Formats: sequence, C-alpha cells, structure tokens
Amino acid sequence: MPSISNLALAGLLAAGQGASASLVGAIQLEKFIKQETPIALQAVLDNIGPDGIKVPGAGRGLVIASPSTSDPDYFFTWTRDAALTFRTLIDDFVFGNKALEPLINDYIYGQARLQTVSNPSGTLLPNGAGLGEPKYMKDGSRYNGNWGRPQRDGPPLRAISLIQYSNYLVSKGQKARVKDEIWPIIANDLAYVGQYWNSTGFDLWEEVNGASFFTTQAQYRSLVEGEALAKVLGLPCTACAEAPQVLCFLQSYWNGKFITANFIQGNHNRGGVDANTVLGPLVAFDPYAPCDSPSLQPCHPRMLANFKNFVDTFRDPALYPINKGIPQNKGIALGRYPEDIYYNGNPWYLITLGSAEYLYAAIASWEKSGGITITPTSLPFFKDLYPLARVGTFGKLHPAYYLIKGLVKTYADSFVAVSQKYTPKDGMMAEQFLKVEPFTPISARNLTWSFAAFVGMNHRRQGHLPPSWVPKNVKVPDVCVGTSVKGTYAPATQAGAPNVTIPCISNVLFQLNASTYYGENLYVVGNSPTLGSWDLETAYPLMSSRYTDERPLWFATIPLEMEEGVSTLRYKYARQQDCGQEWIVEEEERVLEVPACVKDGSEEVLAERDEAFNGPAGSPGGC
Ligand code: NOJ
Ligand code: NOJ
Repeated sequence: MPSISNLALAGLLAAGQGASASLVGAIQLEKFIKQETPIALQAVLDNIGPDGIKVPGAGRGLVIASPSTSDPDYFFTWTRDAALTFRTLIDDFVFGNKALEPLINDYIYGQARLQTVSNPSGTLLPNGAGLGEPKYMKDGSRYNGNWGRPQRDGPPLRAISLIQYSNYLVSKGQKARVKDEIWPIIANDLAYVGQYWNSTGFDLWEEVNGASFFTTQAQYRSLVEGEALAKVLGLPCTACAEAPQVLCFLQSYWNGKFITANFIQGNHNRGGVDANTVLGPLVAFDPYAPCDSPSLQPCHPRMLANFKNFVDTFRDPALYPINKGIPQNKGIALGRYPEDIYYNGNPWYLITLGSAEYLYAAIASWEKSGGITITPTSLPFFKDLYPLARVGTFGKLHPAYYLIKGLVKTYADSFVAVSQKYTPKDGMMAEQFLKVEPFTPISARNLTWSFAAFVGMNHRRQGHLPPSWVPKNVKVPDVCVGTSVKGTYAPATQAGAPNVTIPCISNVLFQLNASTYYGENLYVVGNSPTLGSWDLETAYPLMSSRYTDERPLWFATIPLEMEEGVSTLRYKYARQQDCGQEWIVEEEERVLEVPACVKDGSEEVLAERDEAFNGPAGSPGGC
C-alpha cells in the first residue's frame, strides 16, 4: 500500500490537470463575487421597511420576502426569512459594516411589536401560541389567509439573531440595554421553544406538519445560547433546561444513511431527502465545535454523508435536466427536495449558495480543530473529491490535509459558479430558476432570502466566522423524553411593543355545509376583529380537512375577540372563488349572542354553530 504522502502527491497531480481552464473560471468567479456582494447587500436593504425602495408601505424594520405581489404574492413579512436575513446583516455589522446598526434597531422594534399581534395561530398572552405565526401583512398586521401554521422555527431563529446582537452589545458594555430592551423579546421566543418544541408544526417550506430537522436544530441552539446569555444578564431561563432533550431528539433524524428531514403526520410522498438538513447546520454553525459534536455541525461525518446524499439526489438528469453531465466532484443546481412540485420543482439560489456556505463552514471547522478526520461514514463524501481518500485522521502537517481542504474549497466554489451561471447581468436573484435550459428565473423575483444567502455564503468564503456557542463536552441524554415547560410571556414594551394584556376570548366552533370545487375557499367575516371587522381581505378562513362527498364540511374553532361593549356577533359566510373572481358573500346577516369571554387561554368551546351556506354555489374560473 502506498504511503499517504504518495497518495497526496498522486492526487495533486490529478488535480493539476485542466488547471489552466479552471484558472480562467476561478478568476471569473472572483470577479462575479466581488460585483455581486454589494448588489446583493443593497437588494436586501431595498426589501426592508420603512425605507426599502422596492417595498413601499412596509412597516419599520419589517423584511418583505419579495416585492412580488402576484404569482406568487410574497409582499408579506415572514418571521423565518426576516430572522435569517438579520442573522447575516448582524454578522456583516459585527464584521465591520457599522452603517447597519440603525436597521438592526428597527428589526428589534419591529419584532417586539409583531410578537404582540393576535393572529390565527393565537396570541402572545397567556400561552405564547401567537408566536408560531409564520407571516404577517407588510405593515405588521395579522394575515388571516389559509396557511401552513403554526411554524415553530420562527421564534428560535429570531432568538438566535437577537442573541447574536445582544452578545455584541454585552461585549461593548451595554448589558443594561440588552436586559431591558432585547432580552424580553428573546425570553418570549425561548419560552415558546421550551413549551412547544415537542409539539407538531409546519416545516420551513410550509407544507408538511410534524417535526422538522431544521426547526429542531434551531431550537437547540436557541436554548443553549439563551441559557448562556441569561447567565451573563443574571436572569433565569426556565425553558433553556429543555436543551438536552431537544439535543436528544435531534439525533433521531439520522436513519443510518442520511438525515430524514421530517417526521410527517398523515399521508405523504416524501422520501426524507430535503435541503432543510443542509440549511440547519448553517444556522447551528460553530467553527470551534468538534466535528463529532452532537450539535451536528457541517463537518460532522453524518452530516457530510447527508450532504453527499442530498446533492447526489439532484444529479439525476431526469429530475434536473440542467445538471446533466456535471461530474461527481463539481457543484450542481439544488432545490428543496426531489418530490417538490411548487412551480414544478426547480433549483433555488438560496439552496445552491447555502451548499457552498456549508462546505466553507466545514473547512473552517477543520482549520480550527487542526485536521480532518475521515470516518467510514464520511468516506464516500471525500472519495467523490479525492478518490484515494481513506479512513484516518490527517492533521494540518499532513500533505493530505492541504490537498483535501483545497479540493473541498474548489468544490464549494463550484456551487457558487453554478449560481454565477444562472444570475442575470443585473445581479438580481429570484427564488428559483428553471430546471431546464435555457436559463429562466422563476417564482418570486428579488427574493430577500436569495440575496442574504449570497452575502452569508461570502462571509464564510472570506473566513469571517461567527462566535462559538456549543458548550464543551456536551452529552446526549441516554433516554429521550418528550417534555415541555409551560412558558410565561410578556410584551417587550421597552423595545416598542404595545402593552397588550390577556385578550378575553370566546371559542366558538363554526361548522358550515358548503359544496365547493377544488380551489375555492370559505371564510367567515363579521363585526369582530377576529373576523376581519367586515373586511373580506382579513376574514377568518375555515378548514376543509373533514370535507367529504357525504358531508361537505368547512369548519374552524375561532377564538372570538369582541370589541369593548359588544356582545352580539353579526357575521356572514363568504366564498372566495379561484382565478381572482369576485367573492360570493351571503346576503343575510347571521347573529350570535357570544358567550361570556374568558382570559385564561382555555381552549374550551363555548358555543357551536352548524349551518349551511345561504347563497349561490361557486364556479371555477378555469384559469
Ligand atoms: C407557499 C409556500 O411558501 C411554499 O413553500 C409552498 O411550496 C407553497 N405555498 C405550496 O404549498
Ligand atoms: C416559500 C418558502 O418555502 C418559505 O420557506 C419562505 O418563508 C417563503 N417562501 C417566503 O420567502
């Protein structure tokens, strides 16, 4: 058997072939990155209220997902997109872009307020349920449409971003400000994580209900970091004690071959391969954590095996014709998951760029830990890049270390080169690009998250690293238990939240018989703010999950909040037709004497309605 140095030499020679062609590519890539970085950063800022030039009407500090108002309408603010965007902006600020500080303060203000907005997921008080709402109107008011809710990644992602900035402030001697202003927002989010991490919710793609690797990994980090910050501030964090159990659960997504992205409730056609398993480790990245840390860093052998499995799935030219003929050691265009049908299922910029960031992060960890350990689990990942790779530990003095590190860097760059190839001259990135040639951007234009992903990728590529957060010698409990701690919640008034109190709520079950066609939706609208105060745009959606041919049932248990002094509810049912046709609203008002409301957050149903739609049937618009 040849010695490893000979192996390394052989590899170097192999890598040297075609070097001149790749040199030209490398120069062009550097040029592209240099040009795109300021464009991407500005494009992020253009989508943030109140001054973002592409998002008129957006509230202060609110990140609009995209300026697109139709096909798809993304002119809303998502807690996830906003938190991930600010993760990168706060990084940029810490790395030296001090001009971003006022914007970070606007974000804090905006999130403090959003936390208090009653919404279809619930309210802040008394039980925090409203924090799981995924999206809000551009001005921060509630969004009532049908949606995959709750989504439990928003609160931990927001906590992580705010902790990142808080740690910076503490290091500058501004502990008091953190304690009075920012911690109350973080504390609500951590309480939410501690209370609901073991409850089902929708995944980051807003499609499947259950538990999601991405969400669990963010939850873990938020609790660990929350605990550390609480300690510095001299405050308790009861929810943070859940961290070991969340970590325990995090391990269970590994199926022996790759990370099963979701545990899904109900029927589904998913094989478990999903970009959420690549994006999670970016959020959890700690360059100083060992690669075998159960926090599951990008360099963890299981995560590298998972990365390869994920990428290889999209090498199939039947899935993505655009990737046809690209060799195994080169980056390709990547999408959410192979079964995706949203816009027909295409590559996403943020995932292709995120995969590059993933590899730069792994390299940073090897640098910090002083070597690369190849295990039987991660060996196939390394073999793709370096066929002579073998199991073992290669310290920094070993020639194989530099060789492999260089090959992984080249591999990472090749994913950026894919995004370069599919970025138009003006540098604008949509959400997706078509999976077949010729290059065609698709879905939302100027997606904030795409630009943020570019900036975040480049931070890692430049070697800008986040601070450490993983505790030394963390142990996974022997037995996993699905626990939960009841949280306490309060509006973060010092940061600008209105001083909301526990709303007085009467839960009423509405059941409506209405035969509908696929694409039609039913709502209740009426004289309660919960029912949109007669505004159809914010009417309350009914659900069709129990609809059958025998019983065309639309229903919802609605937590009714009435205006001061009003106890008679007046309401109508309304059909929302597809293809932008007119609504069909009942003519006659219905009336209900609302049972006395309660303030204890109880879910007890106080009254029931069982009614039939009183008006014409809808007809499909045929669009
Ligand atoms: C909108 C969601 O944001 C997107 O992720 C999803 O694929 C589509 N709805 C379809 O459910
Ligand atoms: C659809 C994506 O699936 C979801 O993750 C994202 O939050 C929204 N679009 C808004 O960008």
